Amino acid sequence: MKTKVIKIKDKTRPEDGELLEAAEILRSGGLVAFPTETVYGLGANALDEAAAKKIYAAKGRPSDNPLIAHISSMEELPALVREIPEAGRKLAEKYWPGPLTMIFPKKDVVPYGTTGGLDTVAVRMPSDPVANRLIKLAGIPVAAPSANTSGRPSPTRAEHVIEDMDGKIDAIVDGGPCSVGVESTIIDLTVQPPRLLRPGGLPLEALEEVLGQVAVDDAVRRKMGEGERPRAPGMKYRHYAPKAAVTTVTGSPHRSAAWIAAHITENAGVICFDEFAPLFPGHIVQRLGPAGDKLAQAQHVFDALRTFDDTDVPEIFAQCPDETGLGLAVSNRLKKAAGFHVVDSAPLVIGFTGPTGAGKTSALRALERLGGLVLDCDAIYHEQLRTDAALREAITDAFGPVFAPDGSLDRQKLGGLVFGDPTSLAQLNDIIFTYLPRELQRRMDDSDAPVVGIDAINLVESGLSHLCRRTVAVLAPEEVRVRRIMARDSIPEDYARLRVQAQRQDDFYRENCTDVLMNSAASPQAFEEIAYQKLQHIIEEETDHE
Ligand code: TXA
Ligand code: MG
Repeated sequence: MKTKVIKIKDKTRPEDGELLEAAEILRSGGLVAFPTETVYGLGANALDEAAAKKIYAAKGRPSDNPLIAHISSMEELPALVREIPEAGRKLAEKYWPGPLTMIFPKKDVVPYGTTGGLDTVAVRMPSDPVANRLIKLAGIPVAAPSANTSGRPSPTRAEHVIEDMDGKIDAIVDGGPCSVGVESTIIDLTVQPPRLLRPGGLPLEALEEVLGQVAVDDAVRRKMGEGERPRAPGMKYRHYAPKAAVTTVTGSPHRSAAWIAAHITENAGVICFDEFAPLFPGHIVQRLGPAGDKLAQAQHVFDALRTFDDTDVPEIFAQCPDETGLGLAVSNRLKKAAGFHVVDSAPLVIGFTGPTGAGKTSALRALERLGGLVLDCDAIYHEQLRTDAALREAITDAFGPVFAPDGSLDRQKLGGLVFGDPTSLAQLNDIIFTYLPRELQRRMDDSDAPVVGIDAINLVESGLSHLCRRTVAVLAPEEVRVRRIMARDSIPEDYARLRVQAQRQDDFYRENCTDVLMNSAASPQAFEEIAYQKLQHIIEEETDHE
């Protein structure tokens, strides 16, 4: 079959003359690939079972994998679906036309050949002007999967479609590169609560804004096991797969780049954020876009994966964005390309707490000897009080002018306001424990240390323990602590004993921490050795898990 390529002059305003032939091919049961804002689609008449069959043949796609029916206006929807739930109306109102596909109960006119045997049908109204006009001119709903050979990355440019489909389909409409770059978001409206089946060009947060609660199908974040059936049948296939084996690395951009630089193998290729490309000289590098620009990352992810198929790179390492906004879709595509072979470059975070005088400092020294980065919450908070404008503003908003003209905190004034007033104290703590974790996270993200120790007296009460995989309480017998405080602070025994008894009791720590380090050692040096062994053991345990 000779495949005709139809180039659109101005893709923002296609002329009917450019699209009439393609529309006629669709109407008479043929196959036309066309651009949408997400990826190129391979179109056929959605109401014609024989036409749908041709799609499966051209793609080499398993026939149990249903197709999305594309429409060009809201009036075309009732002909296809038995019922439009309120949620569907609201979503259509806000996000159609656009990168959103909704699943409804199907009407009989929609053949099982289109829905892969299901009683539901997936419908989408693309916003791309070429797609929209083509569907309108064809006058039929257009079934269109992504226009790639089954198992290859989705096509985001006409050249990709030509690569996969030349000679197999009637025509390709070339409307230039796709603006979104990842496929549509799919939401199933036939279940309660509505369920996200595939993350895509419309962020999950946008759906939540309209629907409140949205369930996320398991297949979005993890590999489906043998015999498991994801609700979008397509999610079970290892799509988007380049020829080379892919390792996808999560974690902050700085950390994932450092991880790849440390583990990269000879001749391996890299998919990375623009800023980190210079870290990989001598390797083939595909840039995803700036680390902070998920729009760009979505546009480039498939092209990057596909480009490696023209090389003989044996292995690819890919930096993965976080899952907020479009990051969920980009990260899902990279993880699927990797067959969910994912490495997390985030550090092992261990929290340290315990009463004063028990030996926490020695334990932290041991962690540093093991290559750990220690974050002293008290010191960081005091530094933030001097340097973090947002924190200073939040405190001033809540408590009035407590910073002196030279910028330093008037501790007495603030203390006078909060001590003895539980509501004010809680308010201050709320502020501190909003800003402190952000700073801790920033420091962890910017370091390469594989292990981080968070040192906080009130680790448990402050909620900082939620940042930690393990929490270590450093405890010591009362007598030992009394002697140590007497020596350290040059105070008499009675006073030292009062201070020890005023603190939280051991039971509190035993109940709330994952590990206890009991310090009955004869010297700080001896205890540091014990801590070293114990922490080494914890690190081994936690790294084995992966
Ligand atoms: O952005 C897109 O959605 C692109 C463009 C061309 O519109 N199309 C696309 O189609 O990505 P395709 O076939 O590559 O992916 C459709 C996905 C598959 O995972 C399929 O299993 C799922 O939608 N799907 C289709 N109908 C369904 C249904 N009734 N119930 C559950 N999942 C369905
Ligand atoms: Mg596809």
